[in-house]
Amino acid sequence: MSEQTTVINPLPAPLNGSTRVPGDKSISHRAVLFSAMAEGTSRVSGVLDSGDVRSSIRAVQALGAKVSLEKQVDGSLSGGITGWGERGPIQPDGPIDCGNSGTTVRLLMGVLAPWDIEVELTGDDSLRKRPMRRITAPLMKMGAQFSPAGRETLPITIHGSRPLRAIEYDAPMASAQLKTAVLLAGLGATGKTILNEPAISRNHTELMLPEYGAVTTAAERVATVKGPCTLRSCEVNVPGDPSSAAFLVCAALLKPGSEVQIENVSLNAGRIGFTRTLERMGANVSIEGLGTSGKEPYGIISARYTHELVGCEIPADKIASVIDEIPVLALVAAHARGLTVFRQVGELRVKEANRLKATIDGLSQLGVDAWVEGDDLYIEGQPDLQVPDGLVFNSHKDHRMAMTWSLVGLCGDKPVTIVDFDSIKISFPTFLGSLEGLAR
Ligand code: S3P
Repeated sequence: MSEQTTVINPLPAPLNGSTRVPGDKSISHRAVLFSAMAEGTSRVSGVLDSGDVRSSIRAVQALGAKVSLEKQVDGSLSGGITGWGERGPIQPDGPIDCGNSGTTVRLLMGVLAPWDIEVELTGDDSLRKRPMRRITAPLMKMGAQFSPAGRETLPITIHGSRPLRAIEYDAPMASAQLKTAVLLAGLGATGKTILNEPAISRNHTELMLPEYGAVTTAAERVATVKGPCTLRSCEVNVPGDPSSAAFLVCAALLKPGSEVQIENVSLNAGRIGFTRTLERMGANVSIEGLGTSGKEPYGIISARYTHELVGCEIPADKIASVIDEIPVLALVAAHARGLTVFRQVGELRVKEANRLKATIDGLSQLGVDAWVEGDDLYIEGQPDLQVPDGLVFNSHKDHRMAMTWSLVGLCGDKPVTIVDFDSIKISFPTFLGSLEGLAR
C-alpha cells in the first residue's frame, strides 16, 4: 500500500460540550470471541465497528460462528452471535488473516488451543513483526503445538490438542492478551489454570467470562479458570472506549478555552490510569461513576483546559493502566513544566509500531527533548512550546500515533501533515468528526 498524506487543520474553536466515543475495543473483541465460543446465541450491543474488531468478526466467521450484527445510527454494531459451543470451531478453508490486530491473533491462539484443529494465523506487515512466543510458550506447556516450532512471528500454524493440561504460569510481562490466551485455553483443560502476572493488567476477561458461565477467580495479580467448561450465551452491552476518550480529553487540555464531557465510557480502573496521570500533572480532569454494564463500570469523564501543567513520574506498576495512552500523554507532558518520566515502558517497542521511538521522534520534530534510559521514557516539557511550520509526522500506520500527532495540528494554530492518517480506522474511525463536533 502506498503512503497517503493528510493535512490536519486547526480546529476553528475550543472544544465544548458532551459527546460519546465508540465502543471499547478490548471489550468488543472479547464479546465477539467469547460469544463465538459459547453454546447458543449471544446478544451484543455497542460493539465497536473498526478495522480491528472486523478482524475478530471475520476470524470467528471463518471458524463457523454465525454473526448477524447490524450497524446502528450511532455507528455501533448490535445483534446476535451464535457460537460453536460444544461442537467446537470448524476447520477454516485457508489461513486466518488477523489484519493489524494483536488482540485478535493472540486471543485466538487461546481459543483454538483446546480443539483438534490446524489453523494458519497471519496478519499485516505490522502484525507479522510482533512477538508471539509470549503466547505460544504457555500454550505449548498446556499441550498445544505450533509450527514452525519456536517461531516468534506470524505466520504461525496452531495445532490444537484436546484436552489440554491445566497449568500455573508466571507471566513474564503484564499483558492482558497473554493472560486472556492462557485463561481461554484453560477452559479446555482439565483442572484449574492459574495465571500470575508481575503487575495488574486490564481485567475485562476476568469480568466477562463469569457472565458466560465460566468459573473464574480474580485477585490482585492472580487469575484462575476452572476447566473443562463450555461457555453459554449471554448479553453484552459494550461501553465507550476510554482509550479513545483519552484523545478527546487530551485535546481539551491542549486547546485553550475547552471543556468537555465524555459520556457512557468504561471507567475500568485498569484502563483509566490516564485520568490519574493527568490529575497528577495538575490537569482539570474528573470521573463520575454511573453504574455497571455487566460487571464493567461506566460513567462520565470531564476535562477542562488547564494552563499550568507540571511533569510527573509514572511508576512501573502503573504502566499497564496507561499503556495505550502513553504517546498522547507524552504529547501533553511536552507542554508541561518540568520532567515527566514513564518507568519501564519497553513494551511500547512491540506495539503496532515501535511507539517508544515514534514518540521520541515526533517530540523531537516539535523541538522537545525526549529520550530513553534503559526502558524509561523521559520528556522535558516546554510550557511555551512553539510548533514549527510545515511539520510532517509519520504515523507508521499506527492508529494511536496518527491520532497523537494530529492533535498538534487540531489543537494548535498551524496545520500539520500526517502520513497514513487512515490508520485511525483501526480503533476510532470517527475521531475527526468527534473533535469537529465539539469545536463548533
Ligand atoms: C489489550 C491489551 C494490551 C493493549 C492492547 C489491547 C487487550 O496489550 O495494549 O491494545 O485487549 O487485551 P498487551 O496485552 O500486549 O499489554
